[in-house]
Amino acid sequence: MDVILTAAVTANGMIAHHSEEIIQWSEDLQLFREQTMGQTVVMGSNTGKTLATELDGREMVVMHRHMDPSRVLGEVKTGKCFIIGGARTYSRFAPFLTHLYLTVHPLVFSTDSLPLFSELESDMRLEFRNQVDVNSDRGIYQFQYRVL
Ligand SMILES: NC(=O)c1ccc[n+]([C@@H]2O[C@H](COP(=O)([O-])OP(=O)(O)OC[C@H]3O[C@@H](n4cnc5c(N)ncnc54)[C@H](OP(=O)(O)O)[C@@H]3O)[C@@H](O)[C@H]2O)c1
Repeated sequence: MDVILTAAVTANGMIAHHSEEIIQWSEDLQLFREQTMGQTVVMGSNTGKTLATELDGREMVVMHRHMDPSRVLGEVKTGKCFIIGGARTYSRFAPFLTHLYLTVHPLVFSTDSLPLFSELESDMRLEFRNQVDVNSDRGIYQFQYRVL
């Protein structure tokens, strides 16, 4: 099974100004919908509270601190499992990731913002796989990597 981190990031690797931000600056929502349709999406409880719309057509798992990431992944029935944030949830699933899909936006957030990973014990080596056009006029692409 593919375990895919998907995120909208700023040029300095931030995903939000703070834990309660309703993200309105990302431009990859249509692509996110296409890629996750029919698959499983895993999100943290903070992210669950910020979602404006229901993620219809997808198996949805909301993570709480007492839940074990490997056990959650063991129960996934779809071929792909998307880890959709936020920073703490990306971190908890880091050891299990097979792919990273990062859409880089032309923004820089201050250093008190939330980074992609709130904590990470070891480096990750990535292999570039694909680049998807999100908004080429604004230079916004999704970069797809495989975790080595
Ligand atoms: N740019 C993007 O692509 C993107 C994507 C997704 C989310 N976001 C943004 O990311 C932000 C949310 O990220 P986040 O990292 O704050 O939260 P999160 O990962 O969405 O959810 C928090 C998770 O951490 C757990 N937790 C909270 N306090 C803990 C503690 N002291 N010890 C252990 N576990 C703890 C929570 O469990 P409990 O439920 O048990 O507290 C929950 O599982 C929002 O602003 C959202 O909009 C951005």
